[in-house]
Order: sequence, then C-alpha cells, then structure tokens
Amino acid sequence: MKKHGTVSVLFVCLGNICRSPTAHGIFAAAVQNAGLNDCVRVDSAGTGAWHVGNPPDPRSQAAALERGVDLSSQRARQVKRADFDQFDYILAMDKDNLSDLRSLAPAHYDGVLELFLRLDEGTREVEVPDPYYGGADGFQLVVDLIESASQELLSRIQRQLEANQ
Ligand code: 4NP
Repeated sequence: MKKHGTVSVLFVCLGNICRSPTAHGIFAAAVQNAGLNDCVRVDSAGTGAWHVGNPPDPRSQAAALERGVDLSSQRARQVKRADFDQFDYILAMDKDNLSDLRSLAPAHYDGVLELFLRLDEGTREVEVPDPYYGGADGFQLVVDLIESASQELLSRIQRQLEANQ
C-alpha cells in the first residue's frame, strides 16, 4: 500500500471521457456503499490528451445515471509517470491502454498493473470495448461489465484491508 491503511485505484482508458470515468464513478459508489471512503482512493485518467479538462461524454453520464451514479463533476486528465508512485492498482480498460501504461511504467512499479476485467473471474471478457463511435448499446455494456468487475475489485480490496489490520 502506498499509504498505510489505504488502497488507491486508478482506472485508465484512452480518452478518460467514457470508460474510465464510468469505472471511477461506479467503483467509488460501491466503495461508499461499503463504508470504505476513508480507506480507498479512486481516480481515473486517459492515455491520450485530446479531452483533458472535459466532463465525461453525455452518453456515459446518462448510462451511469440510470444506475444512480452521477459522473458530472469529473474532468478528464492524462495519465502521468507520477501516477505509478501514487496508485496501488492501475487498471486498464483494453489491451492498447495496458500496453501504453506498460511503456510508461517505471521498472520498479510494485502495484497491480492489469486489465480491469482480469480481476473479474465471472466474465470471459477481458476488455471493456470502446463505446465512443458506437450506439447506446455499447454504453450499456460498459456499465454492465464495470458494475460486475467493481464488485470483484471491492471484495479483493476488503480482504486486503482486513489482512493489513
Ligand atoms: P474512452 O473513449 O477511452 O472510453 O474515454 C474514447 C473517447 C474519445 C476517443 C476515443 C475513445 N476519441 O477518439 O476522441
């Protein structure tokens, strides 16, 4: 753990306006429901810089809001090398994101750098597909995949926090 007694999670996609803000919002809501706000820090970022400073895509905001999660206060930022000093988990949405993150990572990074869906043994999917150029179905799928994987991640972190008490 980067900071004793807390676990930090960074979700990463390409633009930081669709998938990773959705994961950020949905996982943060799960953390809050579990009463773990003080122990778990959540953030998101993109490998690209095109949308820096922008709120999440309205289609992502709508899909998340249907599940009771408000993404409107988030603003896109680009992932940076210093993130590897800050986050215990850096979770990529797809293989391109993971490859870009591996190129950026310092050799000594000792956290979990992995595809987010690899933490969810209940799905055979390994990537959260980029919904940006597709229809509403794609945004629903993003929310479904992320809700399931968020529960798995939360259980894993709960076990980790208990083991470190
Ligand atoms: P995200 O989706 O990586 O899930 O935020 C995208 C957003 C924007 C672009 C591509 C993917 N874009 O090409 O601008």
